[in-house]
Amino acid sequence: MRIAVFFAVLMAGFLLVAQGPAPVTAPVQPIPYSHALHAGKLQLKCGMCHENKDPGETMGLPATSKCMTCHQAVKTDAEPIQKLKSFFDSKRDVPWVRVYQIPGYVYFSHRAHTEAGATCQECHGAVAASEVLKRETDISMGGCMTCHRQKKAPLNCTFCHEHQN
Ligand code: HEC
Ligand code: HEC
Ligand code: HEC
Ligand code: HEC
Ligand code: HEC
Repeated sequence: MRIAVFFAVLMAGFLLVAQGPAPVTAPVQPIPYSHALHAGKLQLKCGMCHENKDPGETMGLPATSKCMTCHQAVKTDAEPIQKLKSFFDSKRDVPWVRVYQIPGYVYFSHRAHTEAGATCQECHGAVAASEVLKRETDISMGGCMTCHRQKKAPLNCTFCHEHQN
């Protein structure tokens, strides 16, 4: 049964792949948020907006209220901030376009990787120097495998495709 499900999701994977590789150009975001400004110039810590909540798989994206802790007062006359405020007032998250995303049938944990010593930069590039984020590193299966081979982490199929906790 598990095997059948596994191959069914892999077929779905093949169909997605058949549509072509993910674009490497930066997606247009609903609000022109800049990591270079916030994480670079203002030196806000990554974890302020990306909390690695238990069990640690995701880093998550910040709630609109997080931005408003400053933007209730900062640059309130700027058009993007007025747009931000309208999301906040209607209690909506900003519909950010995802940059790094892997299919749901692959098991991935941020915490396991940071505990193994991997840095944000290794997998996401020079974020704090980027005005706009785009996919800079290879997070395809080949990309995962290259690092696993270098770091002597496991390479067997079930490690990423049918992980048992
Ligand atoms: C710790 C305070 C702080 C937080 C939190 C913060 N910002 Fe900012 N933001 C600033 C400051 C300071 C500026 C620069 C203001 C200036 O140019 O004088 C700025 C500028 C901006 C601008 C450019 C505005 C313009 O057109 O000039 C945007 C857009 C923006 N922030 C979006 C966001 C979003 C979205 C979030 C949440 C994900 C966020 N900010 C969180 C402090 C903050
Ligand atoms: C003030 C809040 C804030 C801080 C600080 C911040 N980020 Fe972000 N981050 C965001 C927002 C908002 C997005 C979604 C918009 C975008 O992709 O630019 C995002 C998106 C990302 C993404 C892309 C996620 C995806 O798959 O769509 C990565 C990777 C990322 N941040 C890494 C970092 C790293 C590394 C740092 C520290 C150097 C950092 N961020 C600091 C707010 C923040
Ligand atoms: C070993 C590689 C690797 C490392 C190290 C890593 N990431 Fe990621 N990151 C990924 C992958 C792969 C995804 C897509 C996950 C998915 O779609 O389930 C991702 C997704 C994200 C996202 C989108 C939201 C989410 O949780 O899916 C953010 C934000 C993010 N990473 C921030 C960070 C930050 C900040 C650090 C450093 C503390 C970091 N990442 C370290 C590989 C990595
Ligand atoms: C920068 C190098 C690097 C990259 C890129 C990387 N990994 Fe890893 N991964 C590691 C290391 C190191 C470990 C720890 C191995 C150990 O503990 O023996 C690990 C552990 C894991 C684990 C075990 C987690 C746990 O809960 O014990 C899984 C699953 C995994 N990686 C999947 C992935 C996937 C999927 C990708 C691609 C999206 C990926 N990795 C990309 C280095 C990397
Ligand atoms: C280190 C983690 C990792 C290991 C080990 C791994 N995979 Fe994957 N696999 C992935 C990721 C990540 C994707 C999704 C790639 C994408 O974004 O399309 C994937 C996708 C796939 C797909 C979907 C089609 C494709 O090529 O993208 C197939 C089929 C597949 N893997 C088979 C296998 C087999 C067979 C093995 C054992 C030889 C294996 N995988 C080992 C991470 C891994």
